[in-house]
Amino acid sequence: MKVFVTGASGFVGAAVVQELRQAGHQVLGLARSEASAQALTAAGAEVLRGDLGDLDSLKRGAAAADGVIHLAFNHDFSQYQAAAATDQHAIEALGSVLAGSDRPLVVTAGLAGFEPGRLATEDDVPAAFARLSERTALALVPQGVRALVVRLAPSVHDAGDHGFVPYLIEVARQKGEAAYIGEGLNRWPAVHRLDAARLFRLALENGPAGARYHGVGDEGIAFRDLAAVIGRHLHVPVVSKSTEEAAGHFGWMASFAGLDMAASSTLTQQRLDWHPIHPSLLADLEQGHYFAK
Ligand SMILES: NC(=O)c1ccc[n+]([C@@H]2O[C@H](COP(=O)([O-])OP(=O)(O)OC[C@H]3O[C@@H](n4cnc5c(N)ncnc54)[C@H](OP(=O)(O)O)[C@@H]3O)[C@@H](O)[C@H]2O)c1
Repeated sequence: MKVFVTGASGFVGAAVVQELRQAGHQVLGLARSEASAQALTAAGAEVLRGDLGDLDSLKRGAAAADGVIHLAFNHDFSQYQAAAATDQHAIEALGSVLAGSDRPLVVTAGLAGFEPGRLATEDDVPAAFARLSERTALALVPQGVRALVVRLAPSVHDAGDHGFVPYLIEVARQKGEAAYIGEGLNRWPAVHRLDAARLFRLALENGPAGARYHGVGDEGIAFRDLAAVIGRHLHVPVVSKSTEEAAGHFGWMASFAGLDMAASSTLTQQRLDWHPIHPSLLADLEQGHYFAK
C-alpha cells in the first residue's frame, strides 16, 4: 500500500514510517522544510513538500495514496484553538479526496475528555471539549470516508520524547522538587512509541470506517508514582502541591497535571490483535535516558 503520512518527520511519525516500511508499504511523507524532507528521504520515504495550512498539498498527497495516516499537529499550546482549527480543515481536506473510496484515513485523537474515575473505553464518546480531530474524522464517515481514529495516550514515550514527561522532568530539575497535585492519585495512561506505531499500521490495514482505537500500554500511572521516579532520579524531594499551588509549579501544564484520564485498550487489542510489547513508561524512565542532560 502507498501511504501518505502527515507528521512523518515527528517523534511518532518517524516510528510510523519505519513500521510501515518494515511491513512492506511505501510511504509518501509530508514535509514543510528541507530538514524534514531530508529526514524522510533518509528513512526511505518519498517526500511531498507542503504544509497543514496548504490544503492543496494535503489533497495531492491523499490523491496519490492508497491510505492516509494523519499525525501532524502544531504543539504550540499558546495557539491551541488555531492549531485545532487548522487540524480540522486538514482532516476535512484529506477526507474530501478519499470520500467514496475504501482508502482509509487514520486520524490521531486524544484521551482527555472522558469521565474521570474509571477506565475510558473505545466505545465511550468524549466530551465536547475533547480534541476536535475525533469528531471531525467521524463526521466524515456518513460522507463515505473510511475514517477511523487512534486515541493516543498523553505520554507516548521512548528515547527522543519531547512531550509532557520531559517537561515534568525539566520543571522538577529547575524547581528542585518533583510534584504531584493533592494525593497524586490521578492517573495518566501511556504508550511506547513503537507500540503506537504498530497500532497505526494495524488500524490502517484493518480498521473499518468509524472505528476508535486506544493507543494505551499503561492504563493509568498514578501521578505521584511518576513524580516519585522523577524525584529519585534527580535526587530531589517528592512533594504534594495544592490545586492553588499547581500553576506556580507546573506552569501551563498545571491543568493537565491534575487530570485523571485512565483508559483501557482491551477492545483495541481484541479488535486488531494488537498487543503492547515494549517497556512501560516507568520502566522506560528507569532506563535513565530521560534524565541524561
Ligand atoms: N508525543 C506524544 O507524547 C503524543 C501524545 C498524544 C498525542 N500525540 C499526537 O501524536 C501526533 C504526533 O505527535 P509527535 O509527538 O510526533 O509530534 P512532533 O514530534 O511535535 O511532530 C509534529 C509533526 O507535525 C509536523 N507539523 C507540525 N506543524 C505542521 C504544519 N503546519 N505543516 C506540516 N507539518 C506540520 C511536524 O513537521 P516538522 O518536522 O516540519 O516540524 C512534525 O512532523 C500529534 O497529533 C500529537 O498531538 C503525541
